[in-house]
Amino acid sequence: MANQTNKFIDMAVAGVKGLRPYQPGKPIGDLERELGISDIAKLASNENPLGPSQSVLAAIASQAKDVWLYPDGNGFALKERLAAKHRVDLAQITLGNGSSDLLEFAVRVFAAPGDEVLFSQHSFAVYPLVTQAVGATGVAAPAKNRGYDLDALQAHISSKTRVIFIANPNNPTGTWVSADELDDFMKQVPAHVIVVLDEAYFDYADYLVGREGYPDTIAWVERYPNLLVTRTFSKSYGLAGLRVGYGISHPDVADLLNRVRPPFNVNSIALAAAEAAVADEDHLQRSVELNARGLKQLGEGFERLALDYIPSIGNFISVDVGREGVSLYDALLHEGVIVRPVANYEMPNHLRVSVGLPEQNERFLKALEKVLND
Ligand SMILES: Cc1ncc(COP(=O)(O)O)c(C=O)c1O
Repeated sequence: MANQTNKFIDMAVAGVKGLRPYQPGKPIGDLERELGISDIAKLASNENPLGPSQSVLAAIASQAKDVWLYPDGNGFALKERLAAKHRVDLAQITLGNGSSDLLEFAVRVFAAPGDEVLFSQHSFAVYPLVTQAVGATGVAAPAKNRGYDLDALQAHISSKTRVIFIANPNNPTGTWVSADELDDFMKQVPAHVIVVLDEAYFDYADYLVGREGYPDTIAWVERYPNLLVTRTFSKSYGLAGLRVGYGISHPDVADLLNRVRPPFNVNSIALAAAEAAVADEDHLQRSVELNARGLKQLGEGFERLALDYIPSIGNFISVDVGREGVSLYDALLHEGVIVRPVANYEMPNHLRVSVGLPEQNERFLKALEKVLND
């Protein structure tokens, strides 16, 4: 590259200068290239090991011939399906290129330099990133036993707080807050603070905990107009590669979110696939059942290896490997298993593993035992 007189970094806006890009799980192709290994088990990005259902694949194939057309920028057909499923108005729904889009929109709409965005220690890495990108100040409240401490979160609300992020369940800990705890918290949040309830793992949690304990927060939007609930097709629906998520909120909040939403942010194949996915309840059921069995299998495996793990209601589980997780992560790569080190979440001795197919879970457990003893 030719030398240039300006340093581009000096030209960047303040928030962006210090940003470190989100570190995704290692792609299978990278490991194949780097170590020349094939037959890799990627358990690093909380994907659905069943993949999409047959009906979704058929919808994708039939949509393919129309890719020369722009998608419906309003995603009307998908919104209709979602509105019926969740019993909300179309005007309450905002579509995202993954639910990460919604997290970013919320901060862009409601927070500016000088404002605070509140989240918890050990919580999803995207929250501080989107906060910093708009030049707002991220505030991390301490966690308790790795999970959210809603009292601590509340104590950190200040006159500058504009947005609060709560991942329920949380990634990478898999911990969760109950309906009663969350309701008590919401009652105390000032009405001018937007609470983003990030429910990327809703279906797994709902299946594992049941309606008694796990909140049905979409029904709460009526009561708490400052609530934005986000969901995704990336996890339980097996569509991570297509990037579709959505938010449900008060229509006035949705209107604001839609103002910053880029035109056509969800492509036509993704819209068609998501529509078909909503209609396929059997596949969803198979996915959450497989996940529950996988969590049990992994938990029992950790117990056999005398390793502490954090009980999870997501499609992943974090285990304390009793030493620097990064070194075991590297050793596991040589065994053809990709997991996720979580030192950047202040959990240096943990590894997060996504629930795979039974044989993948078994392979991971065997590899883990081997590298622990090497
Ligand atoms: C807690 C949480 N929220 C949101 C997301 C974003 O998912 P997506 O943008 O694929 O919908 C993830 C993905 O890992 C997550 O763990």
